[in-house]
Amino acid sequence: MAGKLDGRVAIVTAGGAGIGAASARRLAHEGAAVVVADLSGTRAEAVTTQIRAQGGQAVWIKMDAADPEGVYATVQLALQTYGRIDILFNNAGMAEIALLDEISLESWQRVLAVTLTSVFLGMKYCLPIMRKQGKGAIINTASISGMGGDYGLSSYNAAKAGVINLTRAAALENARYNIRVNCVCPGAINTRAAEILGGNRADEFRRLQAQAHPLGRMGEPEEIANAVLFLASDDSSFMTGAMLVVDGGVTAHTGLPSFPHFVQTRQ
Ligand SMILES: NC(=O)c1ccc[n+]([C@@H]2O[C@H](COP(=O)([O-])OP(=O)(O)OC[C@H]3O[C@@H](n4cnc5c(N)ncnc54)[C@H](O)[C@@H]3O)[C@@H](O)[C@H]2O)c1
Repeated sequence: MAGKLDGRVAIVTAGGAGIGAASARRLAHEGAAVVVADLSGTRAEAVTTQIRAQGGQAVWIKMDAADPEGVYATVQLALQTYGRIDILFNNAGMAEIALLDEISLESWQRVLAVTLTSVFLGMKYCLPIMRKQGKGAIINTASISGMGGDYGLSSYNAAKAGVINLTRAAALENARYNIRVNCVCPGAINTRAAEILGGNRADEFRRLQAQAHPLGRMGEPEEIANAVLFLASDDSSFMTGAMLVVDGGVTAHTGLPSFPHFVQTRQ
């Protein structure tokens, strides 16, 4: 059966785990040859092995998405191995919990570098290639944390808001070249992020996150991968500069308390 991405080549940063790994597998399942790029070579290699075991095409590279040389090497690997780049999924990002006045400058700069500068670098190196090809799809991982503030996550909020607006500016500059640039805004997704942010209270963190979503649960990485596939494929051919919110209903809420009991009983 023909895949939606047959003959296309994709780069997935932070492809070794969570949303990136699920997306790399999903894109490969639809026929894309995938470059799995991750800070952890072990994780990137494992995802590549899974894709190949399913009959897909993939190579991996250990890289830091905040490092220009790492991003450049990833682009070169894609070109040398597969000869083109059709899809770029800029997915790397990191959060650190701290109150604003307690964030060290070093931590602030690292969060901005991994979360926002990485997106800039990926686009900077891929856009000229996509322009020559006359087509491309770029997907950036933003977050609902780029649409509002979170207590203790100000550097992440600032970086993800930057990803959203960088996506829009990039979409405007590149529409004439038939390159679409969109971002996905996940709600809380069931990945290692719960352990990283929740520490030894990860279970409680997961329970509270689930409660905060009107659908009553956290999302799964595969549910974001479905949105990434949509934005990568021709199914979204008239979308550019958009935010695709995949958040179980969180941002449908004003944030004010609601009173289901009151609504039911006031008559
Ligand atoms: N999990 C969530 O709830 C959630 C919600 C909204 C947005 N996001 C965003 O989704 C993206 C992926 O998050 P996740 O939860 O799937 O993560 P994860 O922790 O499950 O996996 C992250 C992967 O990224 C790799 N990585 C970390 N720093 C890197 C770097 N500098 N360069 C290259 N690779 C790096 C890690 O080795 C790991 O394999 C991030 O941008 C994150 O901010 C996550």
